Amino acid sequence: MPERSPRDETEVDVGRRLFFRRFATDVVTAAATVVGAAQQLQQQSMDAARDILGMEDGQAATASDSAAPARADATASSGAASGFRTPFRWDGDGLHLIDQRKLPDELVEVDIRTAADGAWAIREMVVRGAPAIGQVAAISMALQAEQAPEAPFAFRAVIRGAATALRNARPTAVNLGWAVDRILDRYEAAGGTDGDHEAIVAGLRSEAESIVFEATTDHGRLASFGVDALPTPEGRPLRILTHCNTGPLACGQYGTALGVVQVAHHAGRSVEVFVDETRPYLQGARLTAWELRQAGVPHTLIADVAAGHLMSRGEVDVILVGADRIAANGDTANKVGTYTLAVLAARHGVPFYVCAPTSSVDLTTPTGAQIPIEERPADEVLQVRGLAIAPAGTQARNPAFDVTPADLITGILTEEGLLRAPFGTALVEAKRTAAERWVRERPFWADPTPSPTSPADEKASVEASAAFAPDGSDEVVV
Ligand code: MRU
Repeated sequence: MPERSPRDETEVDVGRRLFFRRFATDVVTAAATVVGAAQQLQQQSMDAARDILGMEDGQAATASDSAAPARADATASSGAASGFRTPFRWDGDGLHLIDQRKLPDELVEVDIRTAADGAWAIREMVVRGAPAIGQVAAISMALQAEQAPEAPFAFRAVIRGAATALRNARPTAVNLGWAVDRILDRYEAAGGTDGDHEAIVAGLRSEAESIVFEATTDHGRLASFGVDALPTPEGRPLRILTHCNTGPLACGQYGTALGVVQVAHHAGRSVEVFVDETRPYLQGARLTAWELRQAGVPHTLIADVAAGHLMSRGEVDVILVGADRIAANGDTANKVGTYTLAVLAARHGVPFYVCAPTSSVDLTTPTGAQIPIEERPADEVLQVRGLAIAPAGTQARNPAFDVTPADLITGILTEEGLLRAPFGTALVEAKRTAAERWVRERPFWADPTPSPTSPADEKASVEASAAFAPDGSDEVVV
């Protein structure tokens, strides 16, 4: 990013406040009134970002061809807009992802044109964060459909192959499979091998746009419910601790836990954020600190292992984290280290909130024990940004997520409001109301046929309801 003087910072801050105010209203109104709302949303946020940063049209914050990955069909865009509010832009030329591996040093984009590109970008963590990878998977399938052969059975093979590649790119975040299933359901609803080719391609695009649009709206709703749930200390800032990265880079537009933080800040609440560095991949240090700095939110980076010390001194008022998958009983998989924080929070009486849209709720997984936990390469532990920190030949384990049991969670913040224990019944209900709301409020430009609840979801919802003990004790029958 270019150097900025203190005066620039003040101007940026005023501009940013205006941006947030304008964005908050525009995002749900103007975007709903145009065809191609996903692109509209992204264009709005980029235009606003350009205003804030004082950039000319088409001027990139940083984009260098030398940063292109060693991959012929996924190259760094030149002349791309900054797009710092979102992890991706989608236009007539394909999908452009911010390369999150290079942040905070460089802001460059990678072009995605096929489902294979999308799967590669998700696997390599060019894009990461549960809601973001779901949206990127859906768009990648829509892009693939545009290039697939017209012959119905060949088309079906391509779409199903794309779905498999994307679904398998990362195992823990359920939003990935959820989004892929929505695209597949849309394909079937449009007639599958008996459907009209053009109508199917348009339908898949519309479904991907709906997924992005709904995520934006839902994360905005979640953030406003979250602000209402925050403690209100007298005469001093609210001290929030967060882990990993749950901001726009991970989610698109607002973010989840970090969306709550940013909306609270821009609503005039006095907040200070302790940002866990989030070893080993450093999402907190690299990405959350970067986003909070851009948003002007006061924050302090801490080593993950310092969290207990701060809590023991009474320096943390509340913990907000995201989720990669919430099981039917409320057990929650999130970035490794979350469980440790929850145990410490219980020890010190600090409220511990999980912030996630209902698309992160997986009613087909009864408890946390059944959530697949991704094991990532040992090098991420053995090195810090390429620099070895252990003797050559040292063995390392790298589980990327852990599971926080439901009984350590104070509440789950969703787009349907704050859920309290017993979570099982509350999660079933939240998923149902979210699905019903989107049937009611589906924007006119979206194809009216499908419902955001897939047949698999509906079946799971019925089974999950039946699995919970009638006394509300949430005992799961596995
Ligand atoms: O491995 P990542 O960076 O994709 O991890 C996912 C996450 O960003 C976090 O676990 C987050 O808290 C949930 S997604 C908003």
